[in-house]
Amino acid sequence: MSRTTASVAVLAAALVLAGCSDSSDASDSSGSRLSVSGAYIPQPVSADMAAGFLTISNSGGTKDELTSVTSGDGDVTLHETTGGAMEQVSRLPVPAHGQLVFKSGANHLMFDKLKRKPTQGDTVTVELHFAESDPVVVKMPVKSATYIPKTGH
Ligand code: CU
Repeated sequence: MSRTTASVAVLAAALVLAGCSDSSDASDSSGSRLSVSGAYIPQPVSADMAAGFLTISNSGGTKDELTSVTSGDGDVTLHETTGGAMEQVSRLPVPAHGQLVFKSGANHLMFDKLKRKPTQGDTVTVELHFAESDPVVVKMPVKSATYIPKTGH
């Protein structure tokens, strides 16, 4: 199910981040060109559940889809938030010349059954899997429990 209104609402804020991408580029011949920026995990209360956030930008002219996220440190699922309740989704679109944004109160990665509680200063490595593009490995830094990205809300 698409969350068009949420995507539009965050697009303006996300564009501000375009100049400070700090992560890897992945490209292939399919026409989608993906990069990841702004990844972080607020330090969770326990290893049972943690949320993670990042922005996937597609500078290519072909849309793609995030189909799963895996990690050697625990289980990861994709969640979107609808009216304050979160809901697991199986895939999320990455529009051509657009972004898929995970941010507090909206789309997020949900970590479960982590081997140990992530602590500020740690990194959790995840692999993003797409319908078209090659997988992208992202090292997500663990920030303080109250961390808010400078350019976000
Ligand atoms: Cu969730």
